[in-house]
Amino acid sequence: MSETMNSAVRSEAPIGVFDSGIGGLTVVREIMRQIPNERIVYFGDTARVPYGNKSKETVIRFSRQIVRFLEAHNVKTIVVACNTASAYALDELEKEIDIPMIGVVKPGAKVAAEATRSGKIGVIATEATIGSGIYNQYIEELNHDVTIWGKACPLFVPLVEEGLLEDPVTDEIARRYLTELIDLDIDTLILGCTHYPLIRSTIRKIMGEGVTLVNPAYETARELKEMLLLRGLLKQQPSGLGDNQYQFFVSDTAGKFIRFANSIIKYGVLSAKQVNIEND
Ligand code: DGL
Repeated sequence: MSETMNSAVRSEAPIGVFDSGIGGLTVVREIMRQIPNERIVYFGDTARVPYGNKSKETVIRFSRQIVRFLEAHNVKTIVVACNTASAYALDELEKEIDIPMIGVVKPGAKVAAEATRSGKIGVIATEATIGSGIYNQYIEELNHDVTIWGKACPLFVPLVEEGLLEDPVTDEIARRYLTELIDLDIDTLILGCTHYPLIRSTIRKIMGEGVTLVNPAYETARELKEMLLLRGLLKQQPSGLGDNQYQFFVSDTAGKFIRFANSIIKYGVLSAKQVNIEND
């Protein structure tokens, strides 16, 4: 098969996206918006969430199993739509597979490095992502004139999963987490966990209008589009009805996932299939 023919065929293949659970749907939402022709196979590891308080070895092992699952679906690329997995596992997995992979950390770091005026940047994320220091590393590679403060906000994930997106409890906890970043006078704040864009309005209210909030999900979808274009892998034709354009898989029961998905993705997620990947 000629090179052009080959990439035309490959471009029809789905994009694999994975996360520890539901949070990666914020990235899926952006991919759907920015490259609506694409097919997506999503895996949410709902049985083993959260990843944010697990060891690097465990997150690599879980991520490797998911990547094998997605490869078996013949995906043309894999988006690691989880900050923790991007921080801990992406480098390792890139060495192991041939298809291109993209994580959420690098795109978010790039925007923050460019957006800051005062050089004072805050990062909020899981314990694992903050502990890995990966946002600092990527931002400092791009902009030497910065000071970065990381703050783990572990309670945000369960608050979002409980649907308390705009609630006095979320306000109170956010105020406790964010006050020190306000006192440090940051001008840019990275929402370094997939769940946080869903409480963006609470974070905005507390941080004030003067602070740029960076949503890595948006940037990741933008970079994904660029990468697919560059490699001749962007899907040209819209998917037809009955194409099974979006497929969702989870490792625990699907009910809660479907309800959550439908609350943030307007497209209408009708089903998600529970699968066991632990032997993969
Ligand atoms: N998806 C994870 C992240 O972006 C948050 C949830 C978890 O701890 O697994 O880091």
